[in-house]
Amino acid sequence: MKKITRDQNSTDLIDNLQAIVMAAYQACGYDQELGQVVRSKIPELAHYQSNGAFLVAKKYRVAPMEVAEKIAAQLKDHEAFRQVTAVAPGFVNMFLSDAYLVSQVKGMITDEAIKLPTVKNSKKIILDFGGANVAKPLHVGHLRSAIIGESIKRIGRFLGHEVIGDVHLGDWGLQMGMIIIELAKQRPELPYFDPGYAGAYPEESPVSMADLDVLYPQASQRAKADETVMDAARRATVELQEGRPGYRALWKKVLAVSIADLRKDYSDLDVDFDLWLGESDAHEAVAPLIDILEKKNLIRVSEGALIMEVCEPDDAKPLPPLMLKNTNGAELYGVTDLATIKQRIEKYAPDEMIYVVDKRQSLHLEQVFRGARLAGIVDEKVRFEHVDFGTMNGTDNKPFKTRAGGTMKLKDLIALIFDNAMGRLRGIDYGLAGAKADIARKVGIATLKFADLSNYRTKDYIFDIERFSAFEGHTGPYLLYSAARANSILSKAEKPATGQWQVIMPETDIERDLLLKLLEFHQAIIESWDDKSPKEICDYAYDLAVIFSKFYHECPVLSENDIKLRESRLFLVEATSGILECALNLLGIEVPDRM
Ligand code: ARG
Repeated sequence: MKKITRDQNSTDLIDNLQAIVMAAYQACGYDQELGQVVRSKIPELAHYQSNGAFLVAKKYRVAPMEVAEKIAAQLKDHEAFRQVTAVAPGFVNMFLSDAYLVSQVKGMITDEAIKLPTVKNSKKIILDFGGANVAKPLHVGHLRSAIIGESIKRIGRFLGHEVIGDVHLGDWGLQMGMIIIELAKQRPELPYFDPGYAGAYPEESPVSMADLDVLYPQASQRAKADETVMDAARRATVELQEGRPGYRALWKKVLAVSIADLRKDYSDLDVDFDLWLGESDAHEAVAPLIDILEKKNLIRVSEGALIMEVCEPDDAKPLPPLMLKNTNGAELYGVTDLATIKQRIEKYAPDEMIYVVDKRQSLHLEQVFRGARLAGIVDEKVRFEHVDFGTMNGTDNKPFKTRAGGTMKLKDLIALIFDNAMGRLRGIDYGLAGAKADIARKVGIATLKFADLSNYRTKDYIFDIERFSAFEGHTGPYLLYSAARANSILSKAEKPATGQWQVIMPETDIERDLLLKLLEFHQAIIESWDDKSPKEICDYAYDLAVIFSKFYHECPVLSENDIKLRESRLFLVEATSGILECALNLLGIEVPDRM
């Protein structure tokens, strides 16, 4: 991939246009801050627009159209524009000139690298995503958090923020108590259950991941069916949390087995975390937290449970209290989340904490954020954000299931997608053994991630594997195919001895469209980040691929005899390949060498 360099001082197309247009507002005697520039939604009408005339009209008590006309006259002869027109009732529409398009592209894409700006005020951000539950199989419900979170992490870092990803495992809850009780019933001879046991516990784990896959459903079924079993599980959870040695030893083994398996699943998806912390890691911060809450008079016991009042007088709808401990004294999700915030602040002093969690947990997170403020464990300036998302449904519009109707495990889904990609790649000679499997893995990931990310995250969406794995249409494989095609053209071209492609003025509209699109990459990244929705980058990558494909059909590249034209077009191919690959990378999608 072409090298990407980033620095604070470089600017992108919209920054540059903004400066030109603001200067025009100033020259006309208006407040330059009113001269905002926006991308036109209708490309036939304009590349860019400035709608500031309406604001000027209000401030200076003049007619908007008069203002627009003055601004347009001021801009008309600027070399950046081919055409500037004032349009009733007060818009200024701009088309960029060929010379400007080319000079901007050359400023951004040199022979050495693609240069993009970074933010000027870099933030330190803890990104809480993944959120798998230990000992329970990772299912597609957790998939979206991993996919969306990974992309947000990459986008944030790309823009120059310091993003620390924490998987925040659910490893401290009732499921652990259930497993302890179930295992005690099935294998009472194990030393973990004897309170009097004083020896060393075995090195080897008593359970494998395959065992856990069976054990957890058995445990939860039995507990749900029998209140005494459930009670025992609740008590075991408390004892585990309070430090009963046998339970702790067993739990550590379960944790190790389960985490090794999770690491594999996440890595198969090219999802990566900096911190592998979980709810249990918050344990040591719970007592000091409760102390603070007690001193501030924020907690009370209600029907045996410890709760924190989080509603405030001017809440439109009163927030229900946050549950901290249940009647048995077990630490609940509410208290571990608050204690985790306290630890994160003390250890990392972040500017922001962003949670990529299912929208069904909105209320919980709202309570937690409010609780943290009331407790005074975070500074006013620290920003919390819940990046929520909808459900991935099957073609029956119900949460995605296996053919047999069970919840689809992540592993099985990965296998399904991989097999599908293998099938579609059939018939091509891939040479080396393993090469095809590697391509299929990348195609599979592209299928899954693009399907997910190209929907606005809060929407539920239907995962139709047949549709999303097609090599044509709005799909991940189509984008990989486009990138691979650009790479294959480049591999057949010879770079001139100078190492520099000559770039001449575009001759066709499709070349102009392509130049403009290349220049808009950075804006798409900014929009995705502002919205914490990788969808903008998906749309951008797709549009770029479509324009590129049209360009390739209309403009001969390798077969072009005019050397200047050929080089200029090869430059476009190289730029497209670099930017497309970079865009896909921000989505967490890797491009195979060929397809
Ligand atoms: N383990 C939780 C679940 O499966 C998600 C954790 C999200 N993160 C958090 N800090 N609450 O629902």
